[in-house]
Amino acid sequence: MSQAKENAALAALDFVEDGMTLGLGSGSTAEIFIEKLGERVAGGLKVQGVPTSDATAACAKENGVPLVDIDRVSRIHLTIDGADEVDPLFSLIKGGGACLLREKIVAHASDRMIVIVDDRKLVETLGKFPLPVEVDPFGVALTADQIYQALRASGCPNGQTVLRQNEDGTGPLVTDGGHFIVDCKCEEIPNPGETAHLLEKIPGVMEHGLFIDLSSVIIVGEDDHARVMELSRE
Ligand code: 5RP
Repeated sequence: MSQAKENAALAALDFVEDGMTLGLGSGSTAEIFIEKLGERVAGGLKVQGVPTSDATAACAKENGVPLVDIDRVSRIHLTIDGADEVDPLFSLIKGGGACLLREKIVAHASDRMIVIVDDRKLVETLGKFPLPVEVDPFGVALTADQIYQALRASGCPNGQTVLRQNEDGTGPLVTDGGHFIVDCKCEEIPNPGETAHLLEKIPGVMEHGLFIDLSSVIIVGEDDHARVMELSRE
């Protein structure tokens, strides 16, 4: 387990209060948070979690964190999730773990989103990490072509699309929601808002991995401590 990720996860626990409904993110950093949360639950903390993936649901069960169906909650107080890249305005690339649609549904429905990352995830400009886009399998080649056009039209120097394969190499990876993931080698995303806007107009796109204006707190784990960075969205 990376010490930097663990330090970020531990610092996020300070934001958790008794009685909260929590969005539980996906990925290795989110799973460390869930393990630590499980220890607090064993000590008497009362919370319930809304998982953003089947893997996260399994991790929460294993660690004794109670779960609730997303359709049974009226409010999610706080979501804690990881990210693949974070820029200075707290815009994110997410979806390296192929959970971006559910992650965005939960983040969007939350009063607050806190992102936990190690310091290697901080970038000046998004786009080195290939941008994941979740698409419907129907007409995927057509959709991928439209995604390429949208990326180039919004100023990305590249936009080459690759259909993500499953771990066995037997075919496309299928998300928890039954979709495919197209990874886009943008190199740089100079105008994340415009890119997001153009991607959202493509019918086959279920969701993209640009998370803009969703997080106001980033916790950056380093080897010996964690830094809490806050952005006012007033
Ligand atoms: C999953 C995600 C993850 O939050 C992202 O990939 C970071 O993962 P990790 O904490 O393992 O580095 O977006 O879809």
